[in-house]
Amino acid sequence: MSTGKPPQTAYFSSSLPLCSLQGSLLTLAVLTLFSLTYFSLNSLRSPLPSSSATTQVSVAKLVRDDHKAAKDGVEEDGLYDIYHSPEVFRLNYAEMERKFKVYIYPDGDPNTFYQTPRKLTGKYASEGYFFQNIRESRFRTEDPDQAHLFFIPISCHKMRGKGTSYENMTIIVQNYVQMLISKYPYWNRTLGADHFFVTCHDVGVRATEGLPLLVKNSMRVVCSPSYDVGFIPHKDVALPQVLQPFALPAGGNDLENRTTLGFWAGHRNSKIRVILARVWENDTELDISNNRINRAMGPLLYQKRFYRTKFCICPGGSQVNSARITDSIHYGCVPVILSNYYDLPFNDILDWHKFAVVLKENDVYQLKQILKDIPDADFVTLHKNLVKVQRHYQWNSPPIKFDAFHMVMYELWLRHHVIKY
Ligand SMILES: *[C@@H]1O[C@H](CO)[C@@H](O)[C@H](O)[C@H]1NC(C)=O
Ligand SMILES: *[C@@H]1O[C@H](CO)[C@@H](O)[C@H](O)[C@H]1NC(C)=O
Ligand SMILES: *[C@@H]1O[C@H](CO)[C@@H](O)[C@H](O)[C@H]1NC(C)=O
Ligand SMILES: *[C@@H]1O[C@H](CO)[C@@H](O)[C@H](O)[C@H]1NC(C)=O
Repeated sequence: MSTGKPPQTAYFSSSLPLCSLQGSLLTLAVLTLFSLTYFSLNSLRSPLPSSSATTQVSVAKLVRDDHKAAKDGVEEDGLYDIYHSPEVFRLNYAEMERKFKVYIYPDGDPNTFYQTPRKLTGKYASEGYFFQNIRESRFRTEDPDQAHLFFIPISCHKMRGKGTSYENMTIIVQNYVQMLISKYPYWNRTLGADHFFVTCHDVGVRATEGLPLLVKNSMRVVCSPSYDVGFIPHKDVALPQVLQPFALPAGGNDLENRTTLGFWAGHRNSKIRVILARVWENDTELDISNNRINRAMGPLLYQKRFYRTKFCICPGGSQVNSARITDSIHYGCVPVILSNYYDLPFNDILDWHKFAVVLKENDVYQLKQILKDIPDADFVTLHKNLVKVQRHYQWNSPPIKFDAFHMVMYELWLRHHVIKY
């Protein structure tokens, strides 16, 4: 029934190839029996009170719509491989698309801190995309009574761009939030549990440190999801850091070109990067350079290496997060996370072990052997799955189904289920 076809179709077509006269007669008899049963069941149902019949129909329709929505997305060509709970994601995502509403506080000087950024480029572009996407999305409501969540639209990245000092930023954020608390009744209902703010630049995390009420109870959507900035995984949301725009198109179906085992080039601005460079800089199989690749050496050389490599090493820098992870995803190079604690973006929805290699910092000494021990077949699977997750780490304007914006919204939607007032 759920397929929308009458049950006898399947029976009929499967018995047809064996066609003989008896066979056909038997089939006809069974068909008749089916039809009779079907119609008599239907006629049994019809005397039900009409109101409850309508309810049944509309519930059935909703379920069917969910299935249809899923067909457009999650179910297609075995995408099931990459989710922890594909069925839950499928249904809950569809429900989110139908119902989720967010109220954006309208206050703040439109010429200064609170509006959509002018350009969607650079290391912290995820913050700008979110601001722009939520304003142009179906999730926005002008009616706070319809809202599941409240967005505090303060962009620390933008303030930073205007040269505001950290001290002043903290004061500005503090005054702004206090103003919202005294002006509107919404904060006090939950002490901010149904409120969230979004910041990719770590100045956003620093600027809000002086506001324990904001940090402890509301949801922080941040690019730096690590313990040292007080990230709380089940409350806060890891925002993927994506350097925008990508210089070259996405990778995929290009295994024959991936001949280098591992690659990393960058600044040695953290302990793990110093060790990585020291241990592997002269290795013949791991391509590790302890300096950024110079532009003078050729156009887009750095990006082109991602196309030629199987595993791209992603050690944390000054923060645990790095745009290198989403670069790797985009270019189809399996990311190797080298971190003792990193709540990877969309970790609770996507199974990172299906498309990445997640290691502890101490594994750096065995890095080459660990990567060489991964059988070819497993690497091919990792790479194929990586291509499947690409769309979840892409920003678009306007946003499109299942992209980074929708994944962040889905994370918020998951969290709204536990808020009570
Ligand atoms: C910080 O705020 C003070 C007082 O409003 C102002 O005089 C000063 O210029 C600000 N400094 C920065 C770097 O924003
Ligand atoms: C919310 O609570 C705070 C602290 O009790 C209070 O100062 C503020 O006026 C309240 N806000 C509203 C809108 O009532
Ligand atoms: C492999 O690399 C070559 C040379 O750069 C390029 O022309 C070709 O398109 C690549 N193959 C795939 C499948 O990307
Ligand atoms: C790598 O090679 C350089 C230049 O020959 C040398 O100075 C350096 O000590 C080598 N590093 C390691 C880890 O062997």
